[in-house]
Amino acid sequence: MKVKSFYDEISSTFSYVLIDDDTSKCAIIDPVLEYNQYTGNYSTVNADKIITYINNNNLKCEWVLETHIHADHFTAAGYLKSKLDIKVGIGEGVKSIVSYWANIFNINNDIQKAEKIFDKLFCEEEIIKIGNLNIKVINTPGHTLSCISYYVEGIIFVGDTLFMPNAGTARADFPGGNATTLFKSIKKILSLPSKTKIYICHDYPKILGKHKCVSTVGMQNKNNILINSNVSLSQFVKLRTLRDSKIEPPKIIYPSIQVNIRNGDLGKQESNGKKYIKVPIQPL
Ligand SMILES: [Fe+2]
Repeated sequence: MKVKSFYDEISSTFSYVLIDDDTSKCAIIDPVLEYNQYTGNYSTVNADKIITYINNNNLKCEWVLETHIHADHFTAAGYLKSKLDIKVGIGEGVKSIVSYWANIFNINNDIQKAEKIFDKLFCEEEIIKIGNLNIKVINTPGHTLSCISYYVEGIIFVGDTLFMPNAGTARADFPGGNATTLFKSIKKILSLPSKTKIYICHDYPKILGKHKCVSTVGMQNKNNILINSNVSLSQFVKLRTLRDSKIEPPKIIYPSIQVNIRNGDLGKQESNGKKYIKVPIQPL
């Protein structure tokens, strides 16, 4: 088994290719499409790098695995599906996210049910086979209702649920987010053997000029600034709630969620041939 990481500087996001060495089959985890909110332009540089890597290494990609509906960048799942013979899977919690945000964007008549938008909605403990690898789905809600982690042979991809120890955890104040739920999800991850490698989705602070994407259960239990083994549920909820009260929503939360609940579909062309992003006024 091999893990290859890719980093998007604009959104500070790590994407991964998880490879089964025995069969050369692979899965892509949390791919990014770059969107510029000032110009309305997007590019596929990150996704194309992944495609090139897959082609150069004679890999056969079978899945895009999403850890959740991202609120700070566009997923490249739709673009990759148009280029590769793949399926896209995400946690079944996405059903309530799609219906919640379809109301906010008033797109109920234009959007299908989540079961139709995505190829597969994963449930707790479901096994996804990539060649000889058995990837286990672990529900880890709290940051969003759709958050899941993917565990395989001593490593786990946790999305935003945990960051590097010096950065703490994801926020828990999005609709459907909950700090108590996030604490319980993280404790599930941190009860794995201490050598278990944790691959994260974002790394914001740079350590020694370099972004990092992997820690271990042991490192997190010892050093995570918000949820190490000495932090109680009530302490965590207090810390997380205080932090969340001081941070702004992601700059492209509305464009991102709007596109990501459609599996990366950038929308329908209007009569002039252009596509548009909706931004609600006083949405909540
Ligand atoms: Fe996120």
